[in-house]
Amino acid sequence: MRIGVFCSGGDAPGMNPCVRAVVRSALAAGHAVVGIRRGYQGLLEEDFFINPEGQPLMTLRSVSDVSKLGGTILESSRSEAYQADGGVKQAADVLRKHRIDALIPIGGDGTFRGAVALAEQWDGRIIGCPGTIDNDLLGTDYTIGFATAVTTAVEALDKLRDTAASHERMFLVEVMGRHSGYIGLYTALAGGAEVAAIPETVTDVRAIIEQLKVLKARGKTSIMIVVAEGDEYGGAEKLQRDLRAAGCPFATRTLILGHLQRGGSPAPWDRILGSRLGDFAVRSVLAGHSGAMAGEVKGELVLTPFPETYARHRPVPQDLVKLLETLAS
Ligand code: F6P
Repeated sequence: MRIGVFCSGGDAPGMNPCVRAVVRSALAAGHAVVGIRRGYQGLLEEDFFINPEGQPLMTLRSVSDVSKLGGTILESSRSEAYQADGGVKQAADVLRKHRIDALIPIGGDGTFRGAVALAEQWDGRIIGCPGTIDNDLLGTDYTIGFATAVTTAVEALDKLRDTAASHERMFLVEVMGRHSGYIGLYTALAGGAEVAAIPETVTDVRAIIEQLKVLKARGKTSIMIVVAEGDEYGGAEKLQRDLRAAGCPFATRTLILGHLQRGGSPAPWDRILGSRLGDFAVRSVLAGHSGAMAGEVKGELVLTPFPETYARHRPVPQDLVKLLETLAS
């Protein structure tokens, strides 16, 4: 078989070990791998990874030492052309032209929606791998990139706590997660934050002010509030404005971490998850499966049909929300 692999949507640390696993597992089983650069956009443009022999094929050496690299060696994109009229059909024609039998897209919900559309125009097999820092997909306990993004955000929180403590200040730190509070909640818990403003809970300015007054009366001199970018309240800057206006008992500063969280060398956990899922995706394709995402649930490797992975956003564990409230005392 000729198996195509590409990364699509927001890049995530751990995509490289996943690509490496796809390449090496497929080659070990006697199959060929075509690396498609820049996601669906690169597919439309027939932009393939070219090896030193000038062939559009990935070799064992194409993925040497990539596990430790952040970003993705195949690059990524959010392709408007693919979503435009005729885009999907054109992509299917490219796949037929280059005799690609199966595809392994690595990405998030947008990538898998694109795969479902492709399956209507192309009869090759498609098995996806969950590559997104957001951890918002169903069908896997963790997505590739989440652990590294949380590590990066927690490192930032630790540093901000130092300066917050020196100046007896409160920091609002905005983290990523378009529709999900996963990065926010895990960062808040690991970083010892007092509040997590996330889309899965109601952000109430008056309640936060009351909590801050209690904490101040108990002798707290610095405060960290983690705000998920997807929080329904509207982001860290708006929350800071309104907290100040409502009589916040601490002097405040805000930091938006942004794309910093997408970069950096993948944490070992993301390397292992990416490797495991990349290999499983290849084995699933070879076993005849299609139309599903490879995931890890409670340590077991499972396939979940694409539409079920994005049917709703993966809910954050309520016990962790409660734990944060208990510990933020
Ligand atoms: O989906 C991953 C993610 O990093 C989200 O957390 C964020 O909202 C979005 O991508 C940012 O996308 P872009 O790369 O288009 O700025």
